[in-house]
Amino acid sequence: MNNVLILGANGGIARYAIDLFLKETDAQLTLYLRNASRLRNMDSDRVRVMEGDVLDMETLKEAMIGQDVVYANLAGDLEKYARTIVEAMEVTSVKRLIFINSMGIYDEVPGEKYGSILDAYRKSAAIVESSNLDYTILRPAWFTNKDEVDYETTQKGEPFKGHEVSRKSVAALVVKLAVTPGLEVRHSLGVNKPE
Ligand SMILES: NC(=O)c1ccc[n+]([C@@H]2O[C@H](COP(=O)([O-])OP(=O)(O)OC[C@H]3O[C@@H](n4cnc5c(N)ncnc54)[C@H](OP(=O)(O)O)[C@@H]3O)[C@@H](O)[C@H]2O)c1
Repeated sequence: MNNVLILGANGGIARYAIDLFLKETDAQLTLYLRNASRLRNMDSDRVRVMEGDVLDMETLKEAMIGQDVVYANLAGDLEKYARTIVEAMEVTSVKRLIFINSMGIYDEVPGEKYGSILDAYRKSAAIVESSNLDYTILRPAWFTNKDEVDYETTQKGEPFKGHEVSRKSVAALVVKLAVTPGLEVRHSLGVNKPE
């Protein structure tokens, strides 16, 4: 049984990932989001919807109970979100975290310096990396909405490749990581479309 908690379930990548989880795996999904009415009808007995803010520690801890994987697909104050998620996972003994971040946090993109705009992303990555969790951080390139799964990855310490990646590709990688024990654990991956 693979129980997956999706934080920010109405997000762009998350919506692709939910479709893939339901079509290609037997995972049980908990969809966690601030406004449940935003989700279109989820006609599946493998889906549970929980309304909550990621910063609401009590609701978040309740959502974590019994989960095998937490997949964070959030935008906003990622530093605060990362701190809250790591603490909630530690308290509830959930180990596996997949965390969507951004390219550029290690100044790894050749010819680009993103500066302070990525500070919250950098700090969130540092919080996740200094935890004891089995994390995988994803650092995608600029998103496209192309209907394709076509990606390659780079490890932390390697120069970033490419410029874009489809949301569907990132979702496909999330699903693969979620259902494959040990894959890319404690790694931070750049994700791009091969050029
Ligand atoms: N655009 C790009 O090309 C690009 C490239 C690389 C990385 N990224 C980053 O990748 C990440 C994921 O992208 P995406 O397109 O899937 O994001 P998205 O569509 O903006 O979704 C982010 C989700 O986070 C949720 N959220 C924010 N604060 C929350 C809170 N306190 N509690 C619960 N939910 C909260 C939002 O919920 P609500 O619906 O309630 O607002 C939203 O659904 C983002 O951080 C983005 O910046 C973007």
